This record gives sequence, structure tokens and C-alpha cells, in this order.
Amino acid sequence: MNKSKVECRSLTKVYKSWLNWSSKKNVSAVNGVSFSIKEGEVYSILGPNGAGKSTIIKMIAGLITPTSGEILIDGKETRRGASGAFHSLSAILEGPRNVYWRLSPLENLHYFGNLRGIPSRVIEERADDLLKKLEIDGKKRNQSQHLSRGMLQKLALAVALITDPKVLLLDEPTLGLDVSSARKIKEIIKSKAYDDKKAILLTTHQMGLVEEMADRIAIVKEGKIVAEGTPRELKQIFSHDVYKIKIRDTIAGKKFKLPQIAGMKDVQNEDGAIGFRFTSKQHTDIYPCLDKLKKMKAEIIQVSRDSEDLEEIFLKITGRT
Ligand SMILES: Nc1ncnc2c1ncn2[C@@H]1O[C@H](COP(=O)(O)OP(=O)(O)O)[C@@H](O)[C@H]1O
Ligand SMILES: [Mg+2]
Repeated sequence: MNKSKVECRSLTKVYKSWLNWSSKKNVSAVNGVSFSIKEGEVYSILGPNGAGKSTIIKMIAGLITPTSGEILIDGKETRRGASGAFHSLSAILEGPRNVYWRLSPLENLHYFGNLRGIPSRVIEERADDLLKKLEIDGKKRNQSQHLSRGMLQKLALAVALITDPKVLLLDEPTLGLDVSSARKIKEIIKSKAYDDKKAILLTTHQMGLVEEMADRIAIVKEGKIVAEGTPRELKQIFSHDVYKIKIRDTIAGKKFKLPQIAGMKDVQNEDGAIGFRFTSKQHTDIYPCLDKLKKMKAEIIQVSRDSEDLEEIFLKITGRT
């Protein structure tokens, strides 16, 4: 059942300067982005601020029009006036304004459910279940503006799920939340993907969230996908071998002067020793490095192997190291 629920083909967005009071130049925010998301999959778009993540989500949600490219939701093209395409989709945008602050959580769920044509009886059942699961039921009749940021985001998720959508778009869903709300949200997202087979698009600039949640990752930089794959694939393709090396900082009572070695980084003095990391594309590259140290009569205390984590790979791909 590997059906594609979201498909973006050569998606491009140029914000025109004449529509934009804050800039005099056209901004090429998204540039030829293609990807697809299958049912039951959490697909994550990871990229630094300004990479174009929110723009991608807003285009898929139908909030802004792509300059060019195509979007299919559940097999239906969004462009050809096919409003049906959006029936199977819900989105939570960045920030806390996804719900009506003057309405209570329960009223929000009824309001948005009714708007999308869900029968009241069905809304009641789903609301009951969602409010309990997300631990909002204690506050379901309070005005939403008095809820904490974490509660508001949990409510936004409940509102998004009240239509039981096939596709869920989440823009930076846990940013700035308390630990327990973030955990709850992650738990529900996972169960919606794996148990209920929803297709989930999640954008973030936080590697930790991606490592925890994503089945596949697209790393975006300046509006383009620069790498795509499962976390494991990305590690295999981009990871270097990393060694941790420790040598005695004296030779025969004299201070040892560490030579420059290509691939050496993070040099640290620690308690009678010098430690550093050595990065190489092939594991045999370590031998010349060790030979060089031995020739200088350095006393090698420790050589251990490591591999780069996804955070390092992400920083490298987006050119921030
Ligand atoms: N409404 C807009 N008008 C003009 N430029 C915009 C607008 N929204 C976003 N941008 C620009 O488009 C680029 C991508 O922004 P955005 O999609 O918000 O990135 P991200 O969500 O990855 O931080 C940035 O350079 C941003 O300044
Ligand atoms: Mg954003």
C-alpha cells in the first residue's frame, strides 16, 4: 500500500517585490522542489531558517499559489479548481495562531469540524477522544486565549485531526513548547502515521526532532532539496569516519608539539594528554596520520572509532560548518 498521498513536482515560489512591502527585490524562496509522501510515512523537511520550509507547506495547504510546479494531494491536482483535493488535508502553521482564541477548545473543534462538513455527532466523538488523548479535556470549556503555548499547540493538533485527514502538514510543530507538550504531540503524530496510516509532512530546523520522528528526510537549503533519504541512507552517503585520538603531551619530559594534520579538528588539552578528532572519507586514511605521530615518537594513548551524527552531516550539507 505504498500510495503517494502528497506529490510535489518542480515546485517553485518567487515572492514578487510588488506584492511585498518589506523588500524591493523578488525573493526566490522555493526553487524546483520535487518529493512525494506515502501513506503511513512521516516525511521531514529539514533546513535552516529562511530555507523555504514554511513556503512549501503554505503552497501544499493552498494558502499561497506556486509560481510554477504541480501539487497532487491524494492523487488530485490542486490547481485545476479541484477543491476536492484539500478535503483530505489539514495543516498546522508555524506559531500559536492556528485556533480561535476567543472560543474554548471544545468550541474550536466544533467550529472547525462544522466548517469542514463533519456531522456534529461525529465531531463530538472525535473531540472527546482527542481532548482526552492530548490531555486538554480539563480545560475544554476555558477560553483558549488563557491556555499555555503548549496547550494551544496541542489544541491546534486536535483541530487539525477533527476532520480525520489523510494528509497532515506540520510546520515546526514543537518549536518553543514545554517538554511534556512536545512529547505528547510527537506521540500522537507517530500514532497517526503508523496506526492510522496518515501521510505526515513535518518541517523543522531541529535535527533532534527529525532523528526521533522522520522516516525520510529532505534537507533544504536556499529553496532547493540538497539531499534526500532515510536517516540511515543520509548517514551512509554523507558520513565520514571519525576517530578520537589521544596522545601523551610530553615526550621524554619535553612538551610535545602537535603537527598540523589534514582532517584534524577539535584539538583539546586534557590532563597530561592532547586529544583530537580525525575525520576521513576512507578508514585507511587513519594510517598515515598515525605514522606521522609515531615518527615524531608521540605516545599514542587511545584511538577509537566513531561516526558523525546526523547533526554534523546536516551542518555540513547546509554549509554551516
Ligand atoms: N510573504 C513573503 N514575502 C517575501 N518574502 C518572503 C515571504 N515569506 C517568506 N519570504 C522569504 O522567503 C524565504 C523563505 O522563507 P520561509 O519559507 O519562511 O523559510 P523557512 O520556513 O524555512 O524559515 C526567506 O528568504 C523569506 O524571507
Ligand atoms: Mg518557517
